[in-house]
Amino acid sequence: VRALVDTFGCQQNVADSQHIMGMLEAMGCEFVTEPTQADIIVLNTCAIREHAEQRAFGNLGALTHTKRRHPEQKIFLCGCMAGETKVSDRVKHSYPHVDGVFSTHHLWQFPQILWNVLSGKKRQFFIEDEPGSIAEGIPQVRDSKLKAWVSIMYGCNNFCTYCIVPYVRGREKSRRPKEILQEIEKLADDGVVEIMLLGQNVNSYGKNLEDEISFAQLLQEVEKIDKIKRIRFMTSHPKDLSDELIEVMKNSDKICRHLHLPLQSGSTKILKAMNRRYTKEQYLELAAKIRREIPDISLTTDIMVGFPGETAEDVDDTIDVIRKVGFDNAFTFIYSVRTGTPAAAMDQVPEEEVHAGFDRVLEAVQETARKQVARLQGQTLTALVEEVNEQDASLVTGRLSNNTIVHFPGSADLIGQIVPVKLEECHGFYYTGHRVEETK
Ligand code: SAH
Ligand code: SF4
Ligand code: F3S
Repeated sequence: VRALVDTFGCQQNVADSQHIMGMLEAMGCEFVTEPTQADIIVLNTCAIREHAEQRAFGNLGALTHTKRRHPEQKIFLCGCMAGETKVSDRVKHSYPHVDGVFSTHHLWQFPQILWNVLSGKKRQFFIEDEPGSIAEGIPQVRDSKLKAWVSIMYGCNNFCTYCIVPYVRGREKSRRPKEILQEIEKLADDGVVEIMLLGQNVNSYGKNLEDEISFAQLLQEVEKIDKIKRIRFMTSHPKDLSDELIEVMKNSDKICRHLHLPLQSGSTKILKAMNRRYTKEQYLELAAKIRREIPDISLTTDIMVGFPGETAEDVDDTIDVIRKVGFDNAFTFIYSVRTGTPAAAMDQVPEEEVHAGFDRVLEAVQETARKQVARLQGQTLTALVEEVNEQDASLVTGRLSNNTIVHFPGSADLIGQIVPVKLEECHGFYYTGHRVEETK
């Protein structure tokens, strides 16, 4: 049986897809990349912006043709869009070729859902919000031998007024540390050296567990696992970032010099309307503290333009923060109305104004990012060698702790090793350089 899992969303969505593939593999499936060759197709969707939803519906629509030629094909829609009743209703009424819809709460029941469909039962809809416990021990198919993504918590309690995530993924739930650490130990035994811990707000990890534990404490436990050489995490909400975390990062050899700290807006008025629960000044202070304590850190962020009520002056505030913090990189988004969120009922900003603001923000971000990358020129830093360079087989591609890419002469036997590299030439967003001898 041939299966195809298509992923539309963020890292957490990708990690979920890896579990769906794990279940399919355990049931004896092999994987294909062409929808026409697949007996089972799973679309793992994202609901964060209108555009993401349109793409998923476009792909879903196109599958009517493949199914016509291959009537035995079974098609499923899951992920964040499956958590919206407007989506499941639309699939129910307008996409009869879809055999099943299941939200993220029901991911672990996929084998049962698939069985129901294969044994001739009617179309399956597993979409209710399930506040129950977390399913553990679901197998996973990973795409990298060296790196693995581990969800440490699910859902979100923050209800930023623009955001659909708390509605489609439900309330925040932390996995037990024991389970997380066992999983990472197993990954390490399989040869994984870098772990990315995932959650919508990792800084509030552990708060709802029976035995309370902080995210910084969890990091320290992960560090004790010998074979793990690098630890990354995403995403940090500025309002919950503790001094304890900064301290633990600062003193760690394994926790990478990278922090993704979504700003969204630099205007205190807009931040308030977004329910972000920090001000412009608080964000600036936090960023300054982090840069002071960990000078070699790379700070990246998410910025949204066009939130209801945003004026050119508010955008000026955002640009002011971009310049003062000097972000190493930023994802910039145009605000997208999400039905059912509080911001959807607010007065929307005219499109031309949004685009003008967006262009200004993008320009500011590119400027600081370019400067930040260039500051590494001439330094010798350690890189984890990830692969042989795709274009030039005499080079290998490595990643610095701060996430910058460097290409340098080397061969496949270096893959998985962390080696010191002199950064010789900056090419915009990556470097070329040479490996140097360990200096101890
Ligand atoms: N939990 C993370 C964000 C996850 S979503 C956090 O709070 O930092 C990733 C990014 O998508 C957000 O940071 C935000 O910039 C953007 N985003 C979320 N909702 C959006 C919307 N309705 N329109 C446009 N961008 C949005
Ligand atoms: Fe959405 Fe805010 Fe939760 Fe992030 S913290 S997932 S932006 S509600
Ligand atoms: Fe991620 Fe999109 Fe869901 S960003 S949490 S897949 S809405």
